[in-house]
Amino acid sequence: MSSLLQRRSLRNPSSWNSRKSASFMGPTTLVALLSMVVIVGVLGPWAWAWGWGWAWGWAGVPQGFSLTSKWAHYSLQEALSLVAKNGSVIVCIVSEPYLPFLNNWLISITMQKRQDMVLVIAEDYASLHKVNQLWPGHAVLIPPVLDAEAAHKFGSQGFFNFTARRPSHLLKILELGYSVMYNDVDMVWLADPIPYLLGDHDVYFTDDMTAIKPLNHSHDLPPPGKKGRPYICSCMIFLRPTDRAKLVLKKWIEELQIQPWSKTVKSNDQPAFNWALMKIAKEVDLYLLPQAAFPTGGLYFKNKTWVKETKGKHVIIHNNYIVGFEKKIKRFRDYGLWLVDEHAHESPLGGL
Ligand SMILES: *[C@@H]1O[C@H](CO)[C@@H](O)[C@H](O)[C@H]1NC(C)=O
Ligand SMILES: *[C@@H]1O[C@H](CO)[C@@H](O)[C@H](O)[C@H]1NC(C)=O
Ligand SMILES: *[C@@H]1O[C@H](CO)[C@@H](O)[C@H](O)[C@H]1NC(C)=O
Ligand SMILES: *[C@@H]1O[C@H](CO)[C@@H](O)[C@H](O)[C@H]1NC(C)=O
Repeated sequence: MSSLLQRRSLRNPSSWNSRKSASFMGPTTLVALLSMVVIVGVLGPWAWAWGWGWAWGWAGVPQGFSLTSKWAHYSLQEALSLVAKNGSVIVCIVSEPYLPFLNNWLISITMQKRQDMVLVIAEDYASLHKVNQLWPGHAVLIPPVLDAEAAHKFGSQGFFNFTARRPSHLLKILELGYSVMYNDVDMVWLADPIPYLLGDHDVYFTDDMTAIKPLNHSHDLPPPGKKGRPYICSCMIFLRPTDRAKLVLKKWIEELQIQPWSKTVKSNDQPAFNWALMKIAKEVDLYLLPQAAFPTGGLYFKNKTWVKETKGKHVIIHNNYIVGFEKKIKRFRDYGLWLVDEHAHESPLGGL
């Protein structure tokens, strides 16, 4: 009942007014009010706010009161149809502690005029509502909600649970028929990456290895390294909605289940992504993006000579090979990439 009412309010807000003419306290109204009470009890403050918005809207209060809370039931399909451009969407996945990084990343995308096609996948209600309040429709939550506190400690089980959702979120987007570019939010765009998605391959990705490659390096999946698998980064991936790309994500999910988190291994989702790529490389059309354009942080922040040699070729910078929010922010600042300091007004999220 609740989702039905919610959907009606999203698709056709004027239906709230038409309900005014229904007889007060008819059986339908009673059921609706009862389910509202249940929602309020079960879902907490946001549902509470929504409930009042609904009740007031029904009573004829001007529409719009419920706008901050309607997002709780905003579906991925609705979000994609609003945000995607030309069948493609740029996504990131954030929980509340990552919001400053989200803002920084978004500023850099806005500078390349691609912000309209950004969809933020929120992993908690706080991020969902904050982003949608400032930038309506650009955040969606794919249930169920995770424990956000536990999610941001690198190497913890909470962090693993958080990252393990990545392939399943991406698969849902492909299954709805959209192409998707996924980015970690500790990235900064220096140029538009879309022209680099050449050809008609299924999956595009970047290497996380620091070893320097020639500018004309192969675009095939690199050979396995010391750990028996390649070191492709799960931080930046572009997928087309083909059966083969879906197969990569299904295999990734399968690999995560085969090698679940343990205290001794403290893995994240990247090894499983690499096992998956390696095992199905022959069945899928894969494309390794150029290193000079998409360098790992382990190269970009550590080899000034290389950075000078490849000047003008860099497209996305990833602030990895370093752990901790403060350290990442300091390093971005040192390199003039913490855009939040001077360009906050350019963000679609305002000052956040
Ligand atoms: C839209 O997508 C098609 C097919 O992928 C592509 O050829 C075209 O350049 C895209 N147009 C824009 C404006 O991005
Ligand atoms: C992670 O997920 C597992 C399995 O779904 C669950 O048992 C565990 O409580 C979760 N841990 C955290 C910290 O979210
Ligand atoms: C890259 O260029 C070098 C020298 O021009 C050539 O020997 C090599 O075969 C090229 N590699 C690829 C993968 O095209
Ligand atoms: C740094 O980059 C330069 C230029 O590409 C290269 O010759 C050198 O070997 C690199 N240094 C390290 C430590 O990788």
